[in-house]
Amino acid sequence: MTAQELMDHIFRWCDDNGEKDYSNTCDTVKCGDPSREIRKVAVTMTATVEVIRQAQQWGADLLIVHEPTFYDHFEKRLENDPVTKAKEELLAKTDMVIWRYHDHPHNKNKDMIGEGTVRMLGLQGKWINRHWAVNRLILDEPLTPRELAERFAKNGGNHVRVCGTLDEPCKTISLCLGTPRGVFEELQDPEVDVVFSGETSEWMLGEYARDAAALGFRKALMIIGHNPSEMGGMILLEKLIAKEFPELETKYFNCGEVYHSI
Ligand SMILES: [Fe+2]
Ligand SMILES: [Fe+2]
Repeated sequence: MTAQELMDHIFRWCDDNGEKDYSNTCDTVKCGDPSREIRKVAVTMTATVEVIRQAQQWGADLLIVHEPTFYDHFEKRLENDPVTKAKEELLAKTDMVIWRYHDHPHNKNKDMIGEGTVRMLGLQGKWINRHWAVNRLILDEPLTPRELAERFAKNGGNHVRVCGTLDEPCKTISLCLGTPRGVFEELQDPEVDVVFSGETSEWMLGEYARDAAALGFRKALMIIGHNPSEMGGMILLEKLIAKEFPELETKYFNCGEVYHSI
C-alpha cells in the first residue's frame, strides 16, 4: 500500500455524504513522496522536531499530523527564517511522508477529533453537532470542572486551567477543541455549563466565566492547551488505522505541550 492509497482511504471515512468541498483543503502532503510504499505509520498532533526525530528513529514511512508543520495554516514558509530553514533541513534528512489530516476529521458528521477526546476522557452522554469543530456533550452523569480537568491530567493535559465554576456538578459541555470560531457564543449560552477550549482570550472569555460564577451562574471555561485538547482525536485515528489495516504497524507519538511550566 502507498501513502497516497492509505490517505485516500482514511479521507473517505470522513466524507459522510460526499458533498464536502476539498478544493482548498490543508489536508495535503507536506513532504516526501506520496507514492512510496508504507509499512509503519506514525500519528501525532504536531510534527515537532522531537516527534520528527522519534518517528524517523522508529522507522516511520508516513507521519500523519493534525496541525501545520511550518507555523501557517497552508504552510506558507517564512522567508529568510533560520528556524524554518533548519526544520526544512531536518526533514530533508528523513524519507518520511508527512500528511495533514485536519479538515476531514472535523468535517465528519460526528467530528472525529471531538469524538476521540470524549472517548479518551471516558465520558458518556448525548452528542449534539453545533458547527465546524464545535459540538456539545450532555453528560449522562454530571461531573464538576475539577473532575473533568483531572481526567485530562490523566491523559496528557497536565496544565488545564479552569475559569469560573470549579466544584459544581455540570451537565452540558461545549467541545471547542483547538481554537474554533464561536467559543464566546458557546460560553454565553445559558444551556452550556462548561466550555472546553484549547486556547483562548483571558481578558475576554476567562473574565466572563469568572464573573458569571461569582454572580451565581454555573459556568466554567476550561483552557486545556491546544495539543492536549485535540490529541484524543488523533489517538482515535491511530486506533482506527490499526484496526482496519492490521498489516501496517502504527504508533501514536505524543508531541506534548508547547509550554514549559516553571
Ligand atoms: Fe483541530
Ligand atoms: Fe487545532
